[in-house]
Amino acid sequence: MSENALPLTTRAAWKALQAHWDAQRGGQLRELFAGDAKRGERFAAEAAGLYLDYSKQRVTEETIKLLIALANECGVRARIDAMFGGERINVSENRAVLHTALRAPAGSSMMLDGVNVVPQVQAVLARMEEFCRRIRSGEWKGDTGKRIKNIVNIGIGGSDLGPVMAYESLRWYSDRALTMRFVSNVDGTDFVEATRDLDAAETLFIVSSKTFTTLETMTNAQSARAWSVAALGSEASVAKHFVAVSTNADGVAKFGIDTANMFGFWDWVGGRYSMDSAIGLSTMLAIGPENFRAMLAGFHAMDEHFRTAPFEKNLPVLMGLIGVWNNNFLGASTVAVLPYDQYLKRFPAYLQQLTMESNGKHVTLGGSPVEYETGPVYWGEPGTNGQHSFYQMIHQGTRVIPCDFIAFRKSLNTLGNHHDLLMANVFAQTEALAFGKTEEQVRAEGTPEALVPHRVFEGNRPTSTIMAEQLTPQTLGALVALYEHSVFTQGAIWGIDSFDQWGVELGKALAQKIVGELQGPAGAKLAHDSSTNALIRRYRGTASG
Ligand code: F6P
Repeated sequence: MSENALPLTTRAAWKALQAHWDAQRGGQLRELFAGDAKRGERFAAEAAGLYLDYSKQRVTEETIKLLIALANECGVRARIDAMFGGERINVSENRAVLHTALRAPAGSSMMLDGVNVVPQVQAVLARMEEFCRRIRSGEWKGDTGKRIKNIVNIGIGGSDLGPVMAYESLRWYSDRALTMRFVSNVDGTDFVEATRDLDAAETLFIVSSKTFTTLETMTNAQSARAWSVAALGSEASVAKHFVAVSTNADGVAKFGIDTANMFGFWDWVGGRYSMDSAIGLSTMLAIGPENFRAMLAGFHAMDEHFRTAPFEKNLPVLMGLIGVWNNNFLGASTVAVLPYDQYLKRFPAYLQQLTMESNGKHVTLGGSPVEYETGPVYWGEPGTNGQHSFYQMIHQGTRVIPCDFIAFRKSLNTLGNHHDLLMANVFAQTEALAFGKTEEQVRAEGTPEALVPHRVFEGNRPTSTIMAEQLTPQTLGALVALYEHSVFTQGAIWGIDSFDQWGVELGKALAQKIVGELQGPAGAKLAHDSSTNALIRRYRGTASG
């Protein structure tokens, strides 16, 4: 058995980490800080405009050393090289994983099967830019000659969450003359509410789907076409009001969209890694090509850092390894992502697909069941809102909930002292979580004895803080790439395929079968379990009561 195929928990570095955990349980943050006046600066790293402070994680120098030894034993460096080198590291789908080529600069080279893919990427970008110029300048007219003022992106999963998150995050940079809407859910309410106040003559739909077969997207696209054609009075109007983003030219043509109005990408771009491909067309329309290019430059800066920096200074590697430590040794089963910037309100939702569809896996690359926990649950809300809701549990609950705080030195919207208040809360939260408040401190405040236990904060709750100068397209690109590569690092440690998503198939297939049963003859025999049968009968109104 080669070193790489060794089960994770039998590796020397894993065993050393286990012993290290058993001896110190990561230590007490109060003591770790008291023992090292410079800890706050030493346990930090910086790259691509992002500063990562991981000093309030329950790690010592020894922990980091052992985690890096684990990364080396698991061959993380070779995995990074394999990804950037275009190897088919998505083994269960036999695909390369080259989203880093989407942001490689023009003129550079990234090879797949002996072919440099960068020119193809740049060619699509150039077409997107020309299209955006025509829409934003008003040169592209709708079927009745009106200028396009509304853009509706129809897509789901990676074909929605990235575009929504990028639009919301970069809204400050957006052309306010364009109304951007996003329709994802097969629930008709999503489409109806997104379009109820729009003039079809001024509305362009972008049908975004890597496969162009996804039930929700195809259903919404058909409804959109019916809505648009009914309002505009001709099938021919589709040419001016629908464009597609897909890898499936046949599917696009069958739907009735001219492939001249299709922006392509490739099977080596996973859906959840596609916001910087043509799937970002709505983003580019909103913020303009120059800002889109700046976002790509931010992604690329983090890619280069990830590819070349030593692990000790490598932000995605450090973040990924600390995530493994928290997940597998501290036993933390969730991670809260807490952006202190209202524009990042959809960032946690975006990260849920990125992290959980990637690392929510139960078998190794070779197909054996894993004998350790893999990806944790990611969730979160922007601060300070969350402080008045779920932070109680993070501070005093019985579970360890590691948190990522994200903050910016400068606000995009200067308003009185709001930003100082916002930032004061970030710093206060991480301090409170790390150091808590002891019984003695609570008593010293004159707290009645019966209330003392209620007012104690244990502290020692692990957090990281990611800080940048300001939320810019570049910063957003770097931030997303940071998480992408930290997910990659974790997948490499856990030995799983972070790029497939077989877990979404069973429900999809069952729904296809059940939809026939909802629409077929009433009273037809149902062959599900008794619960599912009863629910279907109740929905159909054929329950016996
Ligand atoms: O169902 C999961 C999934 O396959 C995601 O991985 C993907 O981002 C999403 O569906 C949408 O797929 P598509 O872009 O092919 O419509």
